[in-house]
Amino acid sequence: MVDTPSHKEPDRNPYPPVTGIDRDRHIGMVREIFTTIPARYDFLNRLLSLRRDVAWRRFAVRRMRFFDTFRLLDVATGTADLAIEAARRHPEIQVTGIDFIREMLTPGRQKVKDRGLAGRIRLLQADALALPFPDGSFDAVGIAFGIRNIPDRMAALREMRRVLIPGGSVYILEMNAPPGMFRRGVFAPYLNRVLPGIARLFSQNPAAYRYLVDSILHFPPPEAFLKMMAEAGFSEMERHSLTLGITSLYIGRHLQD
Ligand SMILES: C[S@@+](CC[C@H](N)C(=O)[O-])C[C@H]1O[C@@H](n2cnc3c(N)ncnc32)[C@H](O)[C@@H]1O
Repeated sequence: MVDTPSHKEPDRNPYPPVTGIDRDRHIGMVREIFTTIPARYDFLNRLLSLRRDVAWRRFAVRRMRFFDTFRLLDVATGTADLAIEAARRHPEIQVTGIDFIREMLTPGRQKVKDRGLAGRIRLLQADALALPFPDGSFDAVGIAFGIRNIPDRMAALREMRRVLIPGGSVYILEMNAPPGMFRRGVFAPYLNRVLPGIARLFSQNPAAYRYLVDSILHFPPPEAFLKMMAEAGFSEMERHSLTLGITSLYIGRHLQD
C-alpha cells in the first residue's frame, strides 16, 4: 500500500491556500487533485474519518424524500458512494451521478456494476455549474463533500435548485472546522499533523490532502452557509450537526417560484 519514493515530496506544497488564489487557479487545483487520488480515495476516506464518512452519507440518505420523479441527482459523485447508498436505501428510485473528473467515475462505475446497480445508477461526466438536465428533473439533489471544492458556491447552489422539482430538496454534506476547544485541542492537530502523515504513507499525491485540510478549515461556518443557501433561493432550511460538529448535513427545499 506504500507509494514509490519518487512520489514523496512532503515539503513541497504545489497547492497554495485556497484563500490566496483566484477561482480559475482553485478549479485547476481541484481538477489536478481529483485526477491523481482516485486509486486510494475510498480507502483513505474510511481510514481518515474512522468510517464516519459512511455513517454521514447514510444519515443524509435516510432523510431523502421521493414523491414525483423518483429520481436523485448526486452532484460531484466521485466514486459514487452517496449514489450507491441512496439506491440501496430507496429501491424505488433511479439515480444519476455527475462528476467532472473521469478518473473518479471509473472506480465508481465498477462499484455500481459489482453491486448489481447498473440498471438504476448512471454516472456521467459533467460540471456542477452546467448540469445537463432540464429544469425540474429531480425530487432530490445530493452533494457529499463536493461543495467546498467548487469556488463559485452560489452558482452551484442555484444550478442544483434549477434541476429540482418544486417541493424537492437539496441535501448537502460538508465538513467544517468546529468551534472552540475541540477544534483547538483535537480537530486542528489531527488535520494538521496526523492526517498529512497518513496521507504521506498511503497516497500517491500527499500534497492533495493538505489542500483538503485547507479547504475544510476555510469552508464558511454553518450560519454563513445557511445564509448562502437562502440567497440561492432555498427555504425551510435544516442543519444537522454530525460527529461533534465536524460535518453538517444541510437540507433546503425548493418551493414554487
Ligand atoms: C471530496 S470528493 C467527494 C466525492 C463523493 N461525493 C464522496 O462522497 O466521496 C469531491 C468531488 O467533487 C468533484 N468536483 C469538484 N468540482 C466539481 C465540479 N465543478 N463539477 C463536478 N464535479 C466536481 C471532484 O472531481 C471530486 O470527485
